[in-house]
Amino acid sequence: MTKVTVLGAAGGIGQPLSLLLKLSPYVDELSLYDIRLAHGVATDLSHINSSVKVSGFEPKDKNDQQAIKQALAGTDVVIIPAGVPRKPGMTRDDLFNINAGIIKSLASAIAETAPNAFVLVISNPVNSTVPIVAETFKSYGVFNPKRLFGVTTLDIVRANTFLKEYDSSLQGVESVKVDVIGGHSGETIVPVFSTSNARDIFAKLSTDQKKQLVHRVQFGGDEVVKAKNGAGSATLSMAYSGYTFAEALLRAVKGERGVVEDSFVYLDASIPGASEVRSKTGVDYLSLPVELGPQGAVSVQGGILTQLDTEEQRLFAIAVNTLKKNIVKGVAFVNKVK
Ligand code: NAD
Ligand code: LMR
Repeated sequence: MTKVTVLGAAGGIGQPLSLLLKLSPYVDELSLYDIRLAHGVATDLSHINSSVKVSGFEPKDKNDQQAIKQALAGTDVVIIPAGVPRKPGMTRDDLFNINAGIIKSLASAIAETAPNAFVLVISNPVNSTVPIVAETFKSYGVFNPKRLFGVTTLDIVRANTFLKEYDSSLQGVESVKVDVIGGHSGETIVPVFSTSNARDIFAKLSTDQKKQLVHRVQFGGDEVVKAKNGAGSATLSMAYSGYTFAEALLRAVKGERGVVEDSFVYLDASIPGASEVRSKTGVDYLSLPVELGPQGAVSVQGGILTQLDTEEQRLFAIAVNTLKKNIVKGVAFVNKVK
């Protein structure tokens, strides 16, 4: 029996993500929690005749902690898209003031009710919200670095999609696989086209085309924010990406071997390969290829850092600089308000 809980399930990402989970062959029970509309979304989804059992939970008032506890009881995987999205002119970091508090309180509820669950963080700014979850778990003595993942899959999806636009022979979802390392905001996003299976196509692009492509991956989120014109940020492509990562994890948990996904993880010594990456880069968290298994992160594949071309090395150095500040901000938030 696999139970997945979505926190923020009635939002722009939460609803289509919950739909994909309702259709998933890897999920048995789906628990939807939101401060609004969770019952409605759950009732709507429950009319789909897949075998996944759906329930919705909403707090009665601000002080009600029972609803989230019920939503989380016995869950194997928690996915968090709760929080506010950007409007035009905002950076992801501008969301920190509102989302940091939301994430800390949700992480506390997980630590109390489902401390062994895998936790997938979508809410922005991911570079800071993942450290907030980790620090909150540490304060409860339940942090397992192998089970906490910042979802950066949308950056990979964008890199794959945008590269394909340069060559019409590349068809199908699986035809291109580009790793994207670093973090999840602007210049912390570093697509590594040079090691992808379509590196020959990338190599043929002009210097300007390469620059435009990298910039588009780094600032793809802004493209959607601008097009939605004040009505939010990426939701459908994010739901697809969030489901893609969750499904990969569930496949690995159920015993599939060789499942590797890029994700923003804490570089803890208990994860093979992590200490080397940490001493090489000087960061505590990084998105990079992570092998997944029944217990979560099996290893981090830091070898990619030795394969970057000169331009990717330059971009990675810039990314690390900003990432460090974003991480410190998340860590300080929890330790300050404790
Ligand atoms: P949204 O406003 O449409 O939905 C957010 C939902 O969270 C709402 O339904 C709201 O009621 C709920 N919520 C707020 N506080 C809550 C709480 N304390 N407990 C439970 N639910 C709560 O926003 P969205 O478009 O779905 O985006 C959600 C977040 O995901 C934003 O922070 C956005 O920046 C982020 N995001 C991340 C990525 C990524 O690649 N990681 C991509 C897109 C969006
Ligand atoms: C994205 O990359 O689309 C998300 O992080 C949402 C945003 O604010 O851009």
